[in-house]
Parts: sequence; structure tokens; C-alpha cells
Amino acid sequence: ADPDPLQDFCIADPKSGITVNGFACKAARAARSSDFFSSAISKGGSTDNPNGSNATVMDATVFPGLNTLGVSMNRVDFEEGGINPPHVHPRASEVGYVAEGILYVGILSTENKLYSKILRAGESFVMPRGLLHFQYNMGPGKATQFVSFNSQKPGIVFAPQSLFGSKPEIPTEILAKAFRVDADIIEYIKSKFQDDC
Ligand code: GLV
Ligand code: MN
Repeated sequence: ADPDPLQDFCIADPKSGITVNGFACKAARAARSSDFFSSAISKGGSTDNPNGSNATVMDATVFPGLNTLGVSMNRVDFEEGGINPPHVHPRASEVGYVAEGILYVGILSTENKLYSKILRAGESFVMPRGLLHFQYNMGPGKATQFVSFNSQKPGIVFAPQSLFGSKPEIPTEILAKAFRVDADIIEYIKSKFQDDC
């Protein structure tokens, strides 16, 4: 979904201060083999959190060689029973490959239809750009998924955190009306997202 590159590569200069969902290039003659290399997703992060999952990001902010190339990856590690909560990527479609474990994954279309599948190691699922999707580790055991994006910085918006943990907050009366429940139910859910970003 990103624009086509204007040159072979554009190794990010993180000090450039440019904000175009990426970075200005360092001089091409200064490029090194190491600029085209990253070990960012060789290990997963801690899954000791309320979701029981962790996404390790390998976008252009952590892998300068991806800058302007329109591709990036994440690694998602799951405890048994862990979820990657419903979320969207505003700037990319995603293809996710299960390396270990068994995941129940789903996407929701603009017609509010759920398309879902149980994936085993070696299998993949595609999440079209902008559509809500989620993953759940049904177990047994841990699960790991490697996902790729057609954007160097796809962005991620988690539905629960957006609605119940934004700063400043969405007024409770609006959420109560939207969810068709009393305000105290909304306040209760909000209390669960106070420390989440
Ligand atoms: C998985 O869906 C991810 O976006 O990292
Ligand atoms: Mn995703």
C-alpha cells in the first residue's frame, strides 16, 4: 500500500526529523550490508500481560533498511489462551504464517461477516487492509506467528484500547449509548484499560 520507491534503497536516517511515516535517506554511498539486516524478530517479547501475547515489531523505525520499500514484519508470540485483540492496520494488508501452535484467527468484513479459520503450524491467513482481525491461541502450548505487511509502517489500532483506554477518554455517555448499556458498565470496562496504551 505504500508508494513505490524512487531509488534502489533509502537507509533511514533516524535523525532526519522528517515525518512522512518514514525517514529521509542517509547517503547511498554510506550504505552497509548491515543496513539490510535485522535480528529484531529472532526472539519474542514477554507475554506476561493481560492479553497473554506480545507483538515484536520490525518496521522501518527498528529496521532502517526497510525505509521507502513498503514491506515490514511482526512476530507475535502467544501463551496458551493468549489473544491478539481485535485490531486494524490503517496502512497495510497482512499475511500471517503460523510457525508454532494452533491459532483461531478471524477477520470482519465491511458487511460485518466473520471469516475465520483454525491455523496449524505451516499455515497462513490474510488480513485485508483496514479490516478488523484477531488471533487466539487455542492451545495446547505456546504459539508463534510471523506476519508480513505491505507497508514499512502499517500502524495498529486496537479496538478495546481505542474505545476504553484513549487519552483523553471518550465520554462515558457516548460509549453507553453506543454499546446499549448503562454507564457503570462502561466505567467498569474503562477501569481495565487505564494503564494500556
Ligand atoms: C498481527 O496481527 C499483528 O498485527 O502483529
Ligand atoms: Mn494484525
